[in-house]
Amino acid sequence: MVRVSLAALATAAAVPLVSAVDIAVKATGGNATSPHQYGFLHEDINNSGDGGLYAELIRNRAFQSSSIFNSTLDGWTPINGAALSLKDLDEPLSKALKTSMNVAVGSLSSSKRNGSSSSQAVGFANDGYWGMDVKIQPYTGSFWVKGEYEGSFTASLRSNLTGEVFGSTEIEAKTSADEWVEHEFKLTPTKDAPNSNNTFSLTFDAAGAKDGSLDFNLISLFPPTYKGRKNGLRIDLAEAIEGFHPTLLRIPGGNMLEGNNSNAWWDWKNTLGPLKDRPGFSGVWGYQQSNGLGLMEYLYLAEDMDLEIVLGVYNGLSLNGDIIPKDKLQPFVDDALDQIEFVSGDASTTKWGRRRAELGHPAPFKLQYVEVGNEDWLAGGDEGWATFKEYRFPMFLEAINKKYPHITVISSGSVFDGYEVPAPGAGDYHIYGTPDSLVDQFDLFDNVTIPHIIGEAAAVHPNGGLGWDAGLLEYPWWSGTIGEAVSMIGYERNADRIIGAAYAPIVRSLDRWQWAAVMIQFAADPAKTTLSTSWYLWELFAGHLMTHTLPASSDFNPLYYVTGKNEDKGTYLFKGAVFNATTDEVPVSLIFEGLRPGTEAELTILTGPEDPYGFNDPFTGVNVVKTVKEKVVSDEEGRFAFSMPDLSIAVLETKSAKCGKKKRDMKQGLRH
Ligand SMILES: *[C@@H]1O[C@H](CO)[C@@H](O)[C@H](O)[C@H]1NC(C)=O
Ligand SMILES: *[C@@H]1O[C@H](CO)[C@@H](O)[C@H](O)[C@H]1NC(C)=O
Ligand SMILES: *[C@@H]1O[C@H](CO)[C@@H](O)[C@H](O)[C@H]1NC(C)=O
Ligand SMILES: *[C@@H]1O[C@H](CO)[C@@H](O)[C@H](O)[C@H]1NC(C)=O
Ligand SMILES: *[C@@H]1O[C@H](CO)[C@@H](O)[C@H](O)[C@H]1NC(C)=O
Ligand SMILES: *[C@@H]1O[C@H](CO)[C@@H](O)[C@H](O)[C@H]1NC(C)=O
Ligand SMILES: *[C@@H]1O[C@H](CO)[C@@H](O)[C@H](O)[C@H]1NC(C)=O
Ligand SMILES: *[C@@H]1O[C@H](CO)[C@@H](O)[C@H](O)[C@H]1NC(C)=O
Ligand SMILES: *[C@@H]1O[C@H](CO)[C@@H](O)[C@H](O)[C@H]1NC(C)=O
Repeated sequence: MVRVSLAALATAAAVPLVSAVDIAVKATGGNATSPHQYGFLHEDINNSGDGGLYAELIRNRAFQSSSIFNSTLDGWTPINGAALSLKDLDEPLSKALKTSMNVAVGSLSSSKRNGSSSSQAVGFANDGYWGMDVKIQPYTGSFWVKGEYEGSFTASLRSNLTGEVFGSTEIEAKTSADEWVEHEFKLTPTKDAPNSNNTFSLTFDAAGAKDGSLDFNLISLFPPTYKGRKNGLRIDLAEAIEGFHPTLLRIPGGNMLEGNNSNAWWDWKNTLGPLKDRPGFSGVWGYQQSNGLGLMEYLYLAEDMDLEIVLGVYNGLSLNGDIIPKDKLQPFVDDALDQIEFVSGDASTTKWGRRRAELGHPAPFKLQYVEVGNEDWLAGGDEGWATFKEYRFPMFLEAINKKYPHITVISSGSVFDGYEVPAPGAGDYHIYGTPDSLVDQFDLFDNVTIPHIIGEAAAVHPNGGLGWDAGLLEYPWWSGTIGEAVSMIGYERNADRIIGAAYAPIVRSLDRWQWAAVMIQFAADPAKTTLSTSWYLWELFAGHLMTHTLPASSDFNPLYYVTGKNEDKGTYLFKGAVFNATTDEVPVSLIFEGLRPGTEAELTILTGPEDPYGFNDPFTGVNVVKTVKEKVVSDEEGRFAFSMPDLSIAVLETKSAKCGKKKRDMKQGLRH
């Protein structure tokens, strides 16, 4: 804070209004940078997994329960007087899915009461996660039935407001009294629904059910998914994430990994294989989770978007403060080794690698980073943090390094949480900040030699608001985004040691208040999917990666910047952000040593709304971020001259430079 106010005084007092910030970038002397600078964290927080990124449309599809939640019929309503009830049958669908739904042909549907001898369709409907998007596109469904039945099933998508049917299909029954039988179907509506207040329904002929009832479980319906993956992701949300060019993915979240207690953490083994073998998980955000978005699904996400993974492993601390004592911790260390083997082990020579191959992915996934736990300085209080440093982190670090020397093992806390992470480990620093506190991040890592990830980062409070009870803003807003830009520039200047930064959380359901400032907002209706102001920042910065920083000398404030080059592309780069300028515009004069005059570059400048608290509102759909791209050419002295308004962000990237290009041509020549 002191640093900032002194610097602000200096700016006001000393700098003539029009003088440019002179930036002279040296040709040598920088550092190679981590290629994973910009990423995100995902966990199933308040239906950002189930009902969010995970494309399943049916809510409570398998009546799952846990130590915290009982099975319920939430989401389900009877059709034509059917009686729905939960049953724990002697022969459940699977060990994991013990409870199923019995659908009894009700009184209304008896043919006598109906006054006709003809048959009557009975069944049930599900209204999804705050509705369902229904479009003319192929939906893929399945359900399991037990009970003797002659006839067919009808699966339909219809309006929950008018009853209009947008599409339906008949599925021939192949049921049995003693066995669970899976039925699969495709359903393509013939009409787009005008809104998302729709339901999925499944009906059958009451007269055909021999015992007057049938049992159902695991009733599932997927729209087309991202990259066409089975059990996959919602296309618009995955594409919105992919659209900001992330390179790093931290999974499986923070608190969710820890779980509510030492018997209820995110056990990756429960998330593998056929859906009928996944028991579900109590989560930590107040609702039963399905385990549908499991470890494999996350790995496919990483593969499909070409993301480096930071794999979180459970380390014996849970949110209620449960701590596994030293003499009982080894099984958890072994479990983490199994998990690493599952992700990256050989398909024929390792047990867990073989399991992965059986699940359809013989090639090992790339795995370079494993994080031990989440925020160990928080949930367990002093004792949690002390035991982490004393034995929990050291035990994991040693075991993982011994078996996988190439893996960087990351501590869930940073040097700023009071842990000089032992070599060769790395740290993790989380910042949910105010614009000011994010500006303070700019030089935070300048003198830190231990590598770190910034595992969670976002502007969430206005200046003056700190702590979860004070001043959380509901959406990313422009001056918060500028604060993030300054912090990102600070991290990238130190990107020889900052492995990468992850925005968190990444997607947010508008139907379930979730903590403020999430990068992408969504509802059942894809028209509500909204890219926040911060998305535009991350897209710009992540879309212009450096491979090396290059030193430049100047003061920072109000213009904060990083300079460097991308050797793969043969380009030179400048990234800058202006925060709290005392003038409307900050002129910039930028020279890259050794770059010939007349070099062309593309300059992109983002500016925001007049109100620094302006945000992208999903309910108006107005984008307050203005993007201007222009071609600029360096003058006879090699100078790029341009100016940046207050509260703006810019990237300048040169066209592939001659020398860089030659180098690449030569390299290619050598290869031929
Ligand atoms: C390169 O990295 C070293 C060590 O991390 C650091 O001291 C130095 O300042 C960095 N150079 C630049 C130009 O950032
Ligand atoms: C779950 O069911 C048990 C037994 O019926 C009941 O005692 C308990 O209160 C229920 N828990 C919840 C969270 O509803
Ligand atoms: C009685 O059955 C007929 C024929 O299936 C159906 O059209 C009608 O809606 C039913 N009436 C009631 C009250 O359910
Ligand atoms: C569907 O309609 C029922 C009955 O009107 C209502 O309770 C439910 O909230 C509706 N579901 C959605 C997603 O609108
Ligand atoms: C339709 O669903 C949306 C979102 O769930 C809800 O806000 C809206 O009120 C519903 N419309 C009607 C007419 O019920
Ligand atoms: C799990 O613990 C968190 C924090 O202790 C609490 O807020 C949450 O309500 C708990 N979840 C459930 C499902 O009890
Ligand atoms: C920026 O300006 C605002 C408004 O005057 C002030 O509250 C804030 O502390 C300033 N922040 C920095 C980092 O200079
Ligand atoms: C880093 O170290 C240098 C040299 O000792 C010092 O001038 C600078 O203030 C330090 N930066 C921070 C953020 O502590
Ligand atoms: C999650 O949603 C519940 C219910 O809407 C809400 O009470 C809670 O504050 C939310 N939690 C977070 C972290 O947003």
